[in-house]
Amino acid sequence: MSVHQKVKRVTTHVLHEMKLRGIKIAMLTAYDYSMARILDHAEIDVILVGDSASNVMAGNETTLPITMDEMIYHAKSVVRGVSRALVVVDLPFGSYQGNSKEALTSAIRIMKETGSQAVKIEGGQEIIESVERILSAGIPVMGHLGLTPQSIHKFGTYVVRAREEEEANKLIKDAHILQEAGCFAIVLEKIPAKLAEKVAKELTIPLIGIGAGSGVDGQVLVLHDILGITQEFSPRFLRRYHNLFEEIKGAVKSYISDVKSLNFPNEKEQY
Ligand code: KIV
Repeated sequence: MSVHQKVKRVTTHVLHEMKLRGIKIAMLTAYDYSMARILDHAEIDVILVGDSASNVMAGNETTLPITMDEMIYHAKSVVRGVSRALVVVDLPFGSYQGNSKEALTSAIRIMKETGSQAVKIEGGQEIIESVERILSAGIPVMGHLGLTPQSIHKFGTYVVRAREEEEANKLIKDAHILQEAGCFAIVLEKIPAKLAEKVAKELTIPLIGIGAGSGVDGQVLVLHDILGITQEFSPRFLRRYHNLFEEIKGAVKSYISDVKSLNFPNEKEQY
């Protein structure tokens, strides 16, 4: 049995140990108690209460509209369903970019009100003061580089990032800056696999990829995407393990039909 299977609780130290031993880290998003409980029972290493809740839970086109109160609601629900996984919560757009004091206030609110164990924030050099201030309060920080969805209006498109040398060099530099500041891990989103592998080899902290190839220390995907609840989103990096949209639709159709045909409830399903 490997180190991470024996642990009662996955911590940032366990993730570090996993990187040292070459054990891959599996991370998924969750936004509610019931799903988080299933993920925890399956022994997922890390649960991310992502601001992708803005898309998959609230139906927004981007992650920008989700508020601090909404993130706290999702994170609190997730934490209630988890006893083993490390729970990381995204700081929502606008809650940390203004200045480092605001960033710290936001991170403290997340930790105090949700019971989660870490926060994630998007960006490198430009948000480093915020990262340092949050870390100085003893709050673990996960970085996020490459395609950072909170900057989608600056990018203008969801295409692969850091293909050009200048952007790739900035990403490498940012990854080092985040590690030196004290981040415990970094998510690398939608960048060339070779670049991600190079960064993962250079850094001592775990690099967790989404659309960043297999040369990193772990993988993260959005739960609703792997389960096939979302349908319209089909990037190359996504592997679907189910088609729950059709399965749930089928179950609901059967229920409707049973109700309308007086097949439900039957004799045994009443008092
Ligand atoms: O919000 C989110 O789901 C994320 C992952 C895509 C890494 O940030």
